Amino acid sequence: MSVLQGKKVLLGITAGIAAYKTASLVRLFIKSGAEVKVIMTPASKDFITPLTLSTLSKNPVHSTFYDKEDENELWNNHVDLGLWADLMIIAPATANTLSKMTNGTCDNLLLATYLSAKCTVYFAPAMDLDMYIHPSTKDSLDSLQKFGNIMIPATSGELASGLVGQGRMAEPEDIVDFIEKDIQSKLPLKGKKILITAGPTYEAIDPVRFIGNHSSGKMGFEIAKAAAKKGAEVFLVSGPSSQTVKNSLVRRIDVTSAQEMYDACHTYFNEVDIAVLSAAVADYRPKNVADQKIKKKDASLVIELAPTKDILKSLGAIKKDQFLVGFALETNDEVSNAKKKIESKNLDAIVLNSLRDKGAGFAVDTNKITIIDKSFNEKTFELKSKKEVAKDIINEVLERIS
Ligand code: CTP
Repeated sequence: MSVLQGKKVLLGITAGIAAYKTASLVRLFIKSGAEVKVIMTPASKDFITPLTLSTLSKNPVHSTFYDKEDENELWNNHVDLGLWADLMIIAPATANTLSKMTNGTCDNLLLATYLSAKCTVYFAPAMDLDMYIHPSTKDSLDSLQKFGNIMIPATSGELASGLVGQGRMAEPEDIVDFIEKDIQSKLPLKGKKILITAGPTYEAIDPVRFIGNHSSGKMGFEIAKAAAKKGAEVFLVSGPSSQTVKNSLVRRIDVTSAQEMYDACHTYFNEVDIAVLSAAVADYRPKNVADQKIKKKDASLVIELAPTKDILKSLGAIKKDQFLVGFALETNDEVSNAKKKIESKNLDAIVLNSLRDKGAGFAVDTNKITIIDKSFNEKTFELKSKKEVAKDIINEVLERIS
């Protein structure tokens, strides 16, 4: 999944021949899951039509503050457009526009929007080679980068003039790639590794039967997705679950029993920075597992159970700098029980669910949590989708590790 998924991209097009390539650029942003709005300078419409861009972006294209011909036309508010965007990319950026951006000139909608935008602004220069190396252009490029804008440099090759040199706008694929890499490199969990447990465990009785529970694994999978979205490398140790995750940063390790989950967690724990144990691990397992299927008899059957190893507690006992988060599902004296678990298991925080809250727990898509940290700061959240709850958990961890 691209880091551009769900991002709001504002594309500013200025009057250079490379403007014809912006049709592909819009397509690529849309394909990567972004929402795109386009602003054009009036002169750029000579190179590509607004109709092409509005069709591809599925949004109206703006180029003036208002349309004199259309009395119903609304004022195109540059401030609103700038605030809407998660990122702005000006491509192609001509020498003329670059110079105006440097000086704060805002005699068209694109420039006014640039000047009021609070998001990251990228620009992809495009011009003839002599214009590109002119000292005034160099000054513009330097100043704009000093202001915090990010340049996607022009490449060398044959130019519209027939001359060969630097000045070609970067190819649309390379522009998207550049922006994706730049976003990835700035994600708050970039370079961090996180261990997450999810789902139930199945404890074998015989070759065909087991003791298990109704955990779907959804909460843990959502935490894995939320962590990966913030740039973390994730080890997701999952018990039997039909949940799926498609993110190259998430490595899924499938296990069945509590002992297998214990072994997998101890394999990865030393190399991670954070561990969030959300699995519903069986507390007991059959003491003896029958080699053969147990035959039905008339007399009642007694299965002796032995405790499983407490994975969370075992990690708390060996933890060095890792930030360790456990889950607690309680029915009474919730907060005081959760606080006791923080201490007895040496946790940095605990995510508390109360079975008394409607919409919390196993079989539902929602959850209602209270997060308590080791200083006993408590934060209670509203009932939310597990996806939103996962984001809250990761944000709370982030606040405490940074
Ligand atoms: N956990 C674990 N290993 C186990 C059992 C639980 O790692 N064998 C973890 C769960 O993943 C979760 C937390 O411990 O993070 C849940 O603990 P919980 O079951 O609420 O508490 P227990 O310690 O089992 O105590 P009790 O059942 O008495 O409340």
